[in-house]
Amino acid sequence: MAKTYMVGNWKMNQSLADIENFFSDLKLSHNQNNYWIAPQTLHISHVLKLAGDKGVLVGSQNISDQDHGAFTGEISSDSLMELGGHFCLVGHSERRQYYNESDEFINKKVLKAIEKGLVPILCVGETLAERDAGKTIEIVLGQIKAGLDSVQLNNESELLLAYEPVWAIGTGKTATPAMAQEVHGKIREFLAERFGEIGPDISILYGGSVKPANVSELLAQADINGGLVGGASLKAADFSALCDATN
Ligand code: PGA
Repeated sequence: MAKTYMVGNWKMNQSLADIENFFSDLKLSHNQNNYWIAPQTLHISHVLKLAGDKGVLVGSQNISDQDHGAFTGEISSDSLMELGGHFCLVGHSERRQYYNESDEFINKKVLKAIEKGLVPILCVGETLAERDAGKTIEIVLGQIKAGLDSVQLNNESELLLAYEPVWAIGTGKTATPAMAQEVHGKIREFLAERFGEIGPDISILYGGSVKPANVSELLAQADINGGLVGGASLKAADFSALCDATN
């Protein structure tokens, strides 16, 4: 069975003081290594020190497709592993939209992360225009297929998927649980075909304006195995409530 996760994507937010306050206020019950946070890259070391006490695992919001060398500004998998990082987001819609990341490039990052022992969270999702054109499933499965090209898994904990409709990110508009489940169900079918018996155990997170008020009905859906949360992960009280909802 797929495990349930709550993952905070802090994006380019939080000062050092905000981070101190967040961890001193954070109250987590039943933590089984399934609460994760991706702070800004510059804050990863600092967050790792504070997160360890709470059993929160830390990752990056992006990763390089390269090993090391002359790649100014990139984030190295080896260095993230060395610090104690556990995972990385790959292909977040903001990276696709503002930094022109293609499916091919995203695929290289997924492969690099797995090769180095990081858990990539492959993010996919359709725009409003694509949804209105009836292309949601085609777009989402196309992104997953391309993003996972040549990926071989030995067990389900090497990879997470996140379905985030672009029109629901940071807008306050959430897909209804039924809309989200429809897409998650198709992703689940694809993963079962692609990875055989490991497929059903790969966790598929939902993201896009997840908050304490809507998390329970989303998590109640058969194929929604957690949340990837931006805005509501910035405050300790909200993130604690979101984590509690996974139990
Ligand atoms: P949001 O962001 O929760 O603020 O909509 C989600 C995400 O971008 O991962």
